[in-house]
Amino acid sequence: MKILGIESSCDETAAAIVENGDKILSNVVVSQIDIHAAYGGVIPEVAARSHIEAIEPVIAQTLSDAELSIKDIDAVAVTHTPGLVGSLLIGTLAARTIAVINNIPFYPTHHLKSHIYANWLSGHQPQFPLLAAVISGGHTQIIYMERHDHFEIIGTTRDDAIGECFDKIAKILGLPYPGGPSIATAAIKGDSKKYPLPIPKVDNLDFSFSGLKTAVLRAVQKELDLPITTPSYELQKQLTEQQIADFAASFQATAVKILIQKLNKATEFFPAKSILLAGGVSANQVLRQEIEKSFSKTHQVFFPEPRLSTDNGAMVASAAYYSIQAGEQASDPYELDISPRSIIQ
Ligand code: KG4
Ligand code: ZN
Repeated sequence: MKILGIESSCDETAAAIVENGDKILSNVVVSQIDIHAAYGGVIPEVAARSHIEAIEPVIAQTLSDAELSIKDIDAVAVTHTPGLVGSLLIGTLAARTIAVINNIPFYPTHHLKSHIYANWLSGHQPQFPLLAAVISGGHTQIIYMERHDHFEIIGTTRDDAIGECFDKIAKILGLPYPGGPSIATAAIKGDSKKYPLPIPKVDNLDFSFSGLKTAVLRAVQKELDLPITTPSYELQKQLTEQQIADFAASFQATAVKILIQKLNKATEFFPAKSILLAGGVSANQVLRQEIEKSFSKTHQVFFPEPRLSTDNGAMVASAAYYSIQAGEQASDPYELDISPRSIIQ
């Protein structure tokens, strides 16, 4: 079964064709990072306009890379929630139009589910039951799955998402958007023990990242001996390259520690065979190494290929395939609802 997956929930316009859930026939991603970098973050209106320009050529390129025509496609899947409304509208309109004109079964797909299913594109099948840490720019959740299409959120963030925290701390340090890769690169030359940062005290399996962001800001002000009213743009001018590297490494190590602590706790209560990382932050190499160290003796550990950690159409197609296998019926493309927020179910 060949599924065309379309993704446009944030700042990537992406489409892919995946056969039987795990074989990528083509995968095209057009990123708007360069456009948004000038503003230091995603501007929703600009994102929607860029999707309009890119969506048709991206889909055409996907078909041509796979050497297929639309007649060879068995189903079309698209991200319909959560995400930026203007961005979601463009991808869903394109997918609905394709489904209607060509009479192809249509499957709206939840973005976080798609991130989890990027792990089925790694060449090996994760085993159930499993724990998936969905760590992206908009979400931080631990999800327990007993089987395909069973999603139990057992931990979630009470404030900022972990990726958002990487992005905001990069801003404090004057590093370019997106913050995750910038922090990871700066941290290579840094000392992760230089600036001890507090681990937030949150009950059960939930997370909190807003305090960590403030803790970094205060630590920078203290290091430079400046009052707490000093704005970030003043701090950046005074930080040396080494101090930036040390702050980046210290924050990254703390974020990794928080995730490992919560995943460890989750394994005490949930009998998982596999542990999966999913979402943009799962591209982080230090995190991958530390998760391997902590869990590979007791669990099968899965990460998506780095290019599939961030938003792409292949994960959408894979998620839809396994939903179809689990019995999901096609939706009416005339009746689709998009939604900026929603929980995975
Ligand atoms: O999954 P994604 O592409 O979009 C959302 O669904 O949010 O995730 C984007 C997030 C951004 O916050 C970005 O800074 C973060 O993933 N990210 C990383 C890395 N690469 C991307 N965070 C840490 N380390 C990385 N290497
Ligand atoms: Zn995403």
